[in-house]
Amino acid sequence: MSNDDWKRQAAEQALTYVEDGMKLGLGTGSTAAKFVELLGAKVKAGLKVVCVPTSEATRAQAAALGIPLTTLDETPALDLTVDGADEVDEELRLIKGGGGALLREKIVAVASDRVVIIADNSKLVETLGRFPLPLEVVPFGLAATEQLIIKLAADTGCEGEVKLRKGTDGKPFVTDNGNHILDCAFDAIEDPEALDDSLKLVPGLVETGLFLGIADVGIIAGPKGVEVLSGIEIDFEEDE
Ligand code: 5RP
Repeated sequence: MSNDDWKRQAAEQALTYVEDGMKLGLGTGSTAAKFVELLGAKVKAGLKVVCVPTSEATRAQAAALGIPLTTLDETPALDLTVDGADEVDEELRLIKGGGGALLREKIVAVASDRVVIIADNSKLVETLGRFPLPLEVVPFGLAATEQLIIKLAADTGCEGEVKLRKGTDGKPFVTDNGNHILDCAFDAIEDPEALDDSLKLVPGLVETGLFLGIADVGIIAGPKGVEVLSGIEIDFEEDE
């Protein structure tokens, strides 16, 4: 079996969380695409759902499969989002944004009651940071933004090359929101919460690829089978 098969297994397992009538968030990337493909088959067979895609690529895939689509403006609260990740640690903290969709992915995830992350086991890590952390930044003042990111990251113990992501045409990659991505090779992020808090002080930074306290369930498939990791689910209604 290959990573691709494991991605599919994780996607299949995520389908068991989907119920008729649900409002869903659809992730971005090769693993999420497998979930969208499987969901498309269920919709064809009669499942009723309405979905918010996290990227134009996912929107195109879902539309081609006949999956009913909506927006967060029409449907601001979702039942469930299923998405992939670039790294997952045992506390279900994630690095996302390898596909450049981190901002919409985070907006959609935070608008969802439940977030299920699907991945093959190559994404499981002890410490986040081996995968360069993507940061979505506005094009204006990029050099100043980059300098401040480097300084504030170093204050939290994170140092490494910060690189402007390029597209296949060699030009700066442009996100669905018209922004750029800085990929930060920090290697090991010992305190992701401190780094995230610090980076959020940078005015030109729109969002980080650190997803902390967002995922509820991680479905990780590998040679030993499918493992389901559960985070702590916070019931906000109980706090009222
Ligand atoms: C896109 C993402 C993806 O979820 C992440 O890059 C994983 O992608 P893949 O499933 O192709 O490995 O965050 O912005």
